[in-house]
Amino acid sequence: MPMSHDASRSPRRQRYGLIATAALGLLAGGVSLLGTRDSWPSGASRSPEDASAADTVVEEPTLPLGPHRTRFQASCVICHSARLPLSQPDLHREKWVEIVHKMVAAYGAPLTPEEEVQIVDYLLAVQESRS
Ligand code: HEC
Repeated sequence: MPMSHDASRSPRRQRYGLIATAALGLLAGGVSLLGTRDSWPSGASRSPEDASAADTVVEEPTLPLGPHRTRFQASCVICHSARLPLSQPDLHREKWVEIVHKMVAAYGAPLTPEEEVQIVDYLLAVQESRS
């Protein structure tokens, strides 16, 4: 029995379909570096009676004279300007003790307890001399 193999050849229909998919979404990455702000834990909010305006202009690097001035100069301008402590309103000793200790305990100011007291003495003396 002859076997017939019909090779059915269908005519090739070549489609030249041009599918233009221009869906290229260019993400113009506005990668703006979000300012990495130092977020210090801000404690010791001021009490209302401390809120009197301190308009003392402090010229740096000339610090007001007072006991342990050099100690202050060495220890209190490492992380911020001397202005920060020196432009505070008049505070009680306990408040200064608290603030100075916070610099040590919370922020790591390198001070011995004795030096903390010296700083407080300086700050109070400055406070007195300007009033
Ligand atoms: C190790 C870093 C560091 C040192 C050293 C340092 N401070 Fe500060 N101090 C800070 C930081 C941080 C703040 C908070 C700043 C802010 O909130 O913007 C601050 C804030 C203050 C303030 C603002 C009031 C408050 O309670 O936040 C005062 C006043 C102050 N310091 C005084 C001093 C004195 C006085 C000294 C010297 C004994 C000192 N600092 C040394 C880190 C330091």
